[in-house]
Amino acid sequence: MLKIAIDGPAGSGKSTVSKIIAKKLNINYLDTGAMYRMCTLKVLNEKIDLDDEKKITDVIDKIDIKMENNVFYLDNNDVSELIRDENISKNVSKVAAIKFVREKMVDIQREIATKADVIMDGRDIGTHVLKESKNKFYLNASIEVRAERRYEELINKGANVIKENIIEDIAKRDKFDSERENSPLIKADDAIEIDTSGLNIEEVVDLIISKIGEKND
Ligand code: CDP
Repeated sequence: MLKIAIDGPAGSGKSTVSKIIAKKLNINYLDTGAMYRMCTLKVLNEKIDLDDEKKITDVIDKIDIKMENNVFYLDNNDVSELIRDENISKNVSKVAAIKFVREKMVDIQREIATKADVIMDGRDIGTHVLKESKNKFYLNASIEVRAERRYEELINKGANVIKENIIEDIAKRDKFDSERENSPLIKADDAIEIDTSGLNIEEVVDLIISKIGEKND
């Protein structure tokens, strides 16, 4: 089966290129970041203190999430838009750093990977979730380029955002994700690194597809 792992920091282009590659290769796409975003939405909805690991663990243990064709359901409600909110982006790294939250989400991700060919994007896919994959990619780009992309994306959605705040949020999140104890954001030794700063989406897609070749897992 084909398992493609795409990792990298915020705004490196992971989800955009993963979606296109999934369509082109006719395989499933799983946005693992969206899963951690749903966990964060649940914790915020329940008004749980983000330092209260015990309560977060209890709530995430019983969480009801579903993913279907890139539509995300929390307690049977479509939260696909809500989970992209700035307030979720600001708090998600803290929730995603909790060991139990990660174990629970990784179990679901691995289960999905056993069922069909998949391209998954996140922070720990090549190093942890799909460690055995032979098709690992690490996307990166300068912080300016990544923040600009995220800014454009949010402005196009009609959000009222300030570019400086986005740069600050992304830099903070990258630092937190890279320095956490459980499955930090790091390039897997056997991942191909691609700097997407000077490349357009199509170029990144073509580059990845050309490297996948016939290598199946
Ligand atoms: O879209 P963006 O790159 O901004 O973020 P995302 O992929 O939606 O991920 C949101 C957050 O979830 C990240 O900043 C990480 O804290 C966490 N995450 C993670 O810990 N492990 C993953 N496999 C995916 C996301």
